[in-house]
This record gives sequence, C-alpha cells and structure tokens, in this order.
Amino acid sequence: MHDPTHQIVDKLQRPLRDLRISVTDQCNFRCRYCMPEEIFGADYKFLPKEKLLTFEELTRITRIFVSLGMEKVRITGGEPLMRRELPKLIRMIHGIDGVKDIAMTTNGSLLAKNAQALKEVGLHRVTVSLDSLDDSRFGKMNGRGFKVSHVLEGIEAAAAAGLKVKVNMVVQKGMNDEDVLPMAKYFREQGHILRFIEYMDVGNSNGWKLDQVLPGQELVERIHRETPIEPLEPNHYGEVASRYRYVGEEREIGLISSVTQAFCSTCTRARLSAEGQLYSCLFASAGTDLRSPLREGWSDTEIREFIVNFWSHREDRYSEERLSNTPGLKKKKIEMSHIGG
Ligand SMILES: C[S@@+](CC[C@H](N)C(=O)[O-])C[C@H]1O[C@@H](n2cnc3c(N)ncnc32)[C@H](O)[C@@H]1O
Ligand code: SF4
Repeated sequence: MHDPTHQIVDKLQRPLRDLRISVTDQCNFRCRYCMPEEIFGADYKFLPKEKLLTFEELTRITRIFVSLGMEKVRITGGEPLMRRELPKLIRMIHGIDGVKDIAMTTNGSLLAKNAQALKEVGLHRVTVSLDSLDDSRFGKMNGRGFKVSHVLEGIEAAAAAGLKVKVNMVVQKGMNDEDVLPMAKYFREQGHILRFIEYMDVGNSNGWKLDQVLPGQELVERIHRETPIEPLEPNHYGEVASRYRYVGEEREIGLISSVTQAFCSTCTRARLSAEGQLYSCLFASAGTDLRSPLREGWSDTEIREFIVNFWSHREDRYSEERLSNTPGLKKKKIEMSHIGG
C-alpha cells in the first residue's frame, strides 16, 4: 500500500504518479505515424512470447510501484487488446491495494466485444484513438483500410458498459487536418471528450517533419471560429491535455501539444515496455532492464531500490529541449509501439 512518506521525486522534483504498461508490441493496425508497413511489415520480428512480461510479473511490478506513490495505471501497446486474456491482468491489477485508476489506450478495433468484460474486471476508463470519420482517410492512416464504424461501435459499447471514454485524434497536416472540425462536432454531440494530439517525432520510423505538425494553438483558433471555446484549469498536477470548454456548455475538448508546448516540467509517468524495459521519457534512446532482476530472483526490496534509483536519477526533458532545437533532435529513439504513448 502506498505510504506517503515514500513519495519519490526525480532530479527535477517530479513525483512518480503514473505507470504506463505496454502489454504487447504487436498491433493489427499499421498507422503511418507509428508502425509504417515498410518497416513493420511481414519480415518484422515481434517479441517472442517468452520475452513478454507475464501477468504475475506485471502485477508484482505494479504493486512495488504503488509502494512508491504511483496511483494510476494505463494499459497500452501496440494494441493492448491483442494480448491474450487481457481482462485477467486487469483483474489482477484491480486487486492491488492503492491503485486508484486503471485506464487503457486502444485503437478500438476489438473494443466492442471486450468492453463489458473489461468493465467487469475493474477497468475504469478507455482512451480510443480515432483520426478521422472518413473511411478513406482513416483507412489510409491506419494502414489497413480499417473502417470507422467498427471503432465507433467500440466507443458506444465502452460507454454502454459504463467505462469513461475519451477519444484521441493525432492531427497530421495535409493528412487529416480537414477532419478536425467534423470530429469536434461529432464528439461534442456524442458527449465524449475529444483530445487533439500534435503529431510527434517519436521513434525513427515515421519520417516526422516539423511542417506536418498543426500547432495546437492554430487548432484552437479553428474550432473557436466555428464554435466558441474557452480555456479551463487543469484537473490535476501533470495533466497532459490543456482543457477547453464550449462556451455555455459543460462539453470539453483537450489539446495535447507536446511539440509546441512541452509539458516535461510536470511529467509524472514511468513507462514499461512489453519486454520489461523501463523508460522515463517517451523520447528515450534506451531503457533500463527490469525483466532480468525479476527473473533472477531479486526480492521486492531490491527491486524497489532499483526503481527508486532509476526515478531519482531521472532528468530527461526531451520536448522542452526540442523547443529550442527543432526540427527534431537527431538521435535514436524508442518506437511508440514499444512503449505505447
Ligand atoms: C502507440 S498507441 C498504443 C495504443 C493503441 N494501439 C492506440 O492506438 O490507441 C498510443 C497512442 O499514441 C498515439 N501515437 C502514435 N504515434 C504517434 C505520433 N507519432 N504522434 C502522436 N501520437 C502518436 C496513437 O494515436 C495513440 O493514441
Ligand atoms: S498508434 Fe496504436 S493502432 Fe496505430 S499502429 Fe500504433 S499501436 Fe497500432
């Protein structure tokens, strides 16, 4: 159980509050900005099963993180619903004393048939990624011709099951920026919070260029011209999205402007890849191996010390540095499909 005296902070005084667990590196989509087919095609070697952390290992790590002040868990991937028996893991995490919130980020393709089971085992929230309401653009962006209607069915099923739902849209200039207003209108009517994400230079395979980023501020102006919006205060310390409300309504949108308005200074997230590499930044080059200590029989106390050491030496702030050093720092970076956002 979390003991507040053990709240750890990194070198920039940022507390450890969230753990993002990638449960698989595989995905049934090939989004161009994340897993482009040229690289993640038929010859790509995904992780063999024995390298994936087991549910027991993941639960143990989560319990140790909770003892250090972590309260929120997000399950991600690759596509998390491609991991076999995922609800079993969520049930195990739900059983840990001190976990206050369990969320999942998903492409929504397998959500309709899983939503009810996920809710029953203790999942609180889902973030569903959807980049367009137009089948041809969405099919092109997801790289597999996958239809919008399946994702919308997933969103409806999740809401009907009682899960809180948010929708994430990555906006890429020249690709889907014409979808911004239709998406805003649709999700305003549906009553789900839509969050616009600036296209980021994660990994090295998506060929990111700064001129493909639609700055969040420009996006706000576009929406405001159509339907007036006003800024809101953050819900909590470290919230990544800047919130806006439609004037005179409770309905909201969010903006995740990690390129033009870096939020490194309040980042409270640790990230674990499916093979047990620990990262403290989305833009890291290398992780810290946690699987070996787990499989070499280290005690909980030793693993806890290992994580304390990892977090207390953390000083990364890539997005802030990128602001003064665009376009993109040239370095090898971990792919998004390994650590899941
Ligand atoms: C890597 S995915 C993993 C979870 C799941 N497969 C999904 O798509 O929601 C997590 C989030 O990262 C976002 N993402 C992936 N690549 C990105 C990029 N280059 N820039 C911004 N967001 C990106 C996706 O749109 C998604 O919302
Ligand atoms: S963004 Fe999600 S759905 Fe798209 S390729 Fe990456 S992991 Fe798959």
